[in-house]
Amino acid sequence: MTTEKNVSFIAKAGGRLKGSIRVPGDKSISHRSIMFGALAEGTTHVSGFLNGEDNLATLNVFRSMGVCISDPVDGQLEIQGVGMQGLQAPTDVLDVGNSGTSMRLLAGLLSGAISKKHFNVVLTGDSSLSKRPMKRVTVPLQLMGAQVETNEAGTPPLTIHGGKKLTGIDYRMPMASAQVKSCLLLAGLYADGKTCVTEPAPTRDHTERMLRGFGYPVEVNNGKICLQGGGKLTATSIDIPADISSATFFMVGATIAEGSDITLEHVGINPTRTGVINILRLMGASIEVMNERDVGGEPVADIRVKSAELKGIHIPEEQVPLAIDEFPAIFIAASCATGETLLTGAEELRVKESDRIQAMADGLVVLGVNAQATPDGIRIQGGNTLTGGHVESHGDHRIAMSFAMAALVADGDITISDCANVRTSFPDFILLANQAGLSISD
Ligand code: S3P
Repeated sequence: MTTEKNVSFIAKAGGRLKGSIRVPGDKSISHRSIMFGALAEGTTHVSGFLNGEDNLATLNVFRSMGVCISDPVDGQLEIQGVGMQGLQAPTDVLDVGNSGTSMRLLAGLLSGAISKKHFNVVLTGDSSLSKRPMKRVTVPLQLMGAQVETNEAGTPPLTIHGGKKLTGIDYRMPMASAQVKSCLLLAGLYADGKTCVTEPAPTRDHTERMLRGFGYPVEVNNGKICLQGGGKLTATSIDIPADISSATFFMVGATIAEGSDITLEHVGINPTRTGVINILRLMGASIEVMNERDVGGEPVADIRVKSAELKGIHIPEEQVPLAIDEFPAIFIAASCATGETLLTGAEELRVKESDRIQAMADGLVVLGVNAQATPDGIRIQGGNTLTGGHVESHGDHRIAMSFAMAALVADGDITISDCANVRTSFPDFILLANQAGLSISD
């Protein structure tokens, strides 16, 4: 019997990436479109929605709380907003699967949305999410007056109590996290007074942009984001760009595989997300950003990538939050670069869908790369031909897709185990990757 865990990918050695493709919609923006659309007054129309498991988990939470949302068809859906106070008691626990963004943003949103109601909600997740730290959201939410409980280890499930009045706080985040920032801003919509969050370094600002798109004023000043509670959201139309995090696998694949020339269409290039372009360019990549345009408050472009010789670098620490989901793929690029690549200041990678530092270091060693994990990053000596081999993705979608691209330059096939979670962010990965020139099957 095939179980979810033993979905394996087999990527054949060799190939190059060619042509023009559009990767699926942005995961972060898709989550937020459902959340804001559900709380808005009126009907929100969404296009470009990512029909992956993580976003469907968010969608199902709101359906369970009485919001009518149409089934996504070709990335289009409609949300009949219920207004800020319109969510109803769910009949069961709310299971958000593998999605950290759902759990952390909903912790704040629901603390507010049930602050005048007499029911509790419980958020649960899969085995990976059940190991991830949640105190980073529950501690500041408690400062606002919310009652949110984790289990003893500070991990899910989360129990959120209704009827707890919220008051705005002025919070300085100890880590650069868009999920924590967004969680507190969403709770702040329901708080008395002003809620301010100061970030130690810029992180993705889709929440701030989309709040404004729904007519909610947000002030941003020197890394401090503030909003006044008690307002309302007005339904709108949202056109979601392709996800730069999904485009990344193809950017790296095209860069390392000789003779490649690929164009990635309609990709979101919000400056809080383009660390991967900056880092690959510093390493010598050939990346052309073309036809820049604004689509509903988010910058979008077509990105053309040709193969190039890479050199190792010390990755600038200020780029880390701007490329936070792209490091597994960047490590593949580093393995193909001449000389040493050093990443520091990236301890957050240890608490993603897997410990991405250890998981990547282990897999790279299997492929013959000299890679050493450090507490806050990795050291990779690149430049030698990768071997084939059998690597573990640890159920982490981005690790799986990164090792798939490594096959383009390996001298043997790469088998990757535990790949079912690729469906969380990129359900058509196998199809698109084959179309582009990788030979991969599951
Ligand atoms: C996300 C924020 C980031 C990122 C995650 C999506 C978001 O997490 O890694 O994939 O949509 O806000 P952190 O806030 O934990 O860095």
